[in-house]
Amino acid sequence: MKTVAFFNNKGGVGKTTLVYHLGHIMAESGGSVLMVDLDPQSNLTSMCLGEDALERLWPAQGSHPHTLHGALEPMLRGIGDVGTPHVIDVGPNLSLLAGDLALGTSSLEDRLSNAWPRALDRDESAFRLLSALHRLIRAGGAQAGAALVLIDVGPNLGALNRAAMLAAEHIVTPLAPDLFSMQALRNLGPTLTEWREGWADRRSRAPAQGPALPAGAMAPAGYVVMQSGMRLNRPVKAYQRWVAKLPGEYHRAMLGASGAPATTDTDAHCLGVLRHYQSLMPLAQDARKPMFALKPADGAIGAHAGAVERCRADFTGLANQLLAAL
Ligand SMILES: Nc1ncnc2c1ncn2[C@@H]1O[C@H](COP(=O)(O)OP(=O)(O)OP(=O)(O)O)[C@@H](O)[C@H]1O
Ligand SMILES: [Mg+2]
Repeated sequence: MKTVAFFNNKGGVGKTTLVYHLGHIMAESGGSVLMVDLDPQSNLTSMCLGEDALERLWPAQGSHPHTLHGALEPMLRGIGDVGTPHVIDVGPNLSLLAGDLALGTSSLEDRLSNAWPRALDRDESAFRLLSALHRLIRAGGAQAGAALVLIDVGPNLGALNRAAMLAAEHIVTPLAPDLFSMQALRNLGPTLTEWREGWADRRSRAPAQGPALPAGAMAPAGYVVMQSGMRLNRPVKAYQRWVAKLPGEYHRAMLGASGAPATTDTDAHCLGVLRHYQSLMPLAQDARKPMFALKPADGAIGAHAGAVERCRADFTGLANQLLAAL
């Protein structure tokens, strides 16, 4: 089972869109995929499930036993270890560990934050907390028979995301070609290095009788260029200028390398471009299916039909590039 997180501390760069669409296209071609929603905003979960299912998942009163937060609850309440994760069937070969707003509002972030220094003192309960997401994801993946796990997270460098990254063998970074994204990348690379090294140090101090621990590889698997930077009607030249900087910035920040291929086309770390599919996305959200699966009955007629086919080809290419990088 391979685990891949889609991570960038810059928001709105297409993390959730990528996890949703890559999950669906990879499942279509026969691989069993588990999607994991660790963003408290839970956009991925909302995209996957209908209104009724969401209301059952997140009742206004009481606990949410079928979300990831529900599975963490016995541990957070101090009455046990993590529970059994509830795997939700989303389609053939495709399943989901559901997100929950409570991942951001409960004591989880604080507990994970406190556990990080405590692990240096060989505190077993700290290792239980820090490895909880890893253990839930492994258990969910095994339950689903998944060959591949795609993890979606929120846009920040907090303790919840650090624990999520510990569970990821590989990291894909969606990047928008703009100044803000470039600055985010300059924080992301060193932060991942710090987390990787910090975890290696802690892991070497783990008590022998403790829980199964992740390796914490967080290996950079590559980046995806978000073409939707174009949607703001910025001049094409400005977009191209930023795209030209991406290979150098990615290699420097994520790989610690001084040299880089001159263009994204020649950069093996560039997994592809995520085009902006304009109104296909709202159509897909209404139909609650991926953009590339839209049919005339969903409103994909005329020029849309061609865009659907192009979208399918794009995501097929992206999925192949990603699988080759793992
Ligand atoms: N290729 C695309 N074509 C059209 N719309 C897109 C595309 N990619 C993303 N969007 C839209 O852009 C917005 C941001 O995308 P998305 O939610 O995937 O980003 P994110 O990185 O997950 O954001 P956040 O950091 O808030 O979790 C969404 O409204 C999404 O529907
Ligand atoms: Mg998102």
